[in-house]
Amino acid sequence: MRSVVLAISGSLREPSFTEKILDLCIKGLGENQEVHKFYPHKMNIGPCKGCRSCWEPKTPGECVQKDDFEQILDVYKRADYFLLATPLYFFDLPATVKNVIDRFFIILEPAQIKSAGGGSTHPKRLGRHPKAALISSCGFAEIENFDLLRQHFRLICEHTDWSWSGEILVSEAGAAAAPKLFDRKYNLIEKAGAELLEGMISQKTTNAIAAPVMPAEDYRRMVTLNFEGGVIAKAKVAVIAIKAMRDKKKIRE
Ligand SMILES: Cc1cc2nc3c(=O)[nH]c(=O)nc-3n(C[C@H](O)[C@H](O)[C@H](O)COP(=O)(O)O)c2cc1C
Repeated sequence: MRSVVLAISGSLREPSFTEKILDLCIKGLGENQEVHKFYPHKMNIGPCKGCRSCWEPKTPGECVQKDDFEQILDVYKRADYFLLATPLYFFDLPATVKNVIDRFFIILEPAQIKSAGGGSTHPKRLGRHPKAALISSCGFAEIENFDLLRQHFRLICEHTDWSWSGEILVSEAGAAAAPKLFDRKYNLIEKAGAELLEGMISQKTTNAIAAPVMPAEDYRRMVTLNFEGGVIAKAKVAVIAIKAMRDKKKIRE
């Protein structure tokens, strides 16, 4: 049977590197999928007003805002997978993506109950538990830049009953344009998609995808030069990229 994939492509940029990762993951999921990809910033989605109308006994789970979030919700009601692909903005989600998450308030019921983790949570409506994966890229070198987002996504899953099923995190996005440097990562991201189909993205694959392609100091120099422009800067960038390729080869040999 075909699975339903709800994918949020959260970058406001074209072309988006994060979307490239998302598409590789979707490819890894295989062809037998019904994929629905949404671009929140291109849609008319109002912010949650916090009016609690969806908590009123007369209108349970109904939002007063009749806008494009309904398209996302319609797919959500059938979704087997929820892929949240987002660039890292100030260590977390861009506002347009957070806006979508906030609108999922309508799947929460007003009662407060004890959560599995021992804190407080709400019962959920709709009985949906899609396998949820976080896909993100960032411009700094260190993978630790994702720490806050990773924790945030875990909490979102915990409080929506989405079944947390792994992460694909790529730092050093400013080096992605260098030829071949990311080829191994791209293969591994497809593999992550295939693993998700089997149940969950393995920690081993997540770690391998996250492995740095060059020392942080080289990367910082490279991206700084990228913005300088000019032939000399371009040549220096090429030297750093070639060194990174050579070093990677050495590590593999
Ligand atoms: C508003 C803004 C905030 C950003 N904040 C961070 C950040 O906190 N940490 C980081 O490493 N990169 C940050 N970046 C860089 C992006 O995360 C990075 O370029 C990403 O790969 C962009 O993905 P995209 O091509 O899909 O838009 C930021 C970029 C923008 C425009």
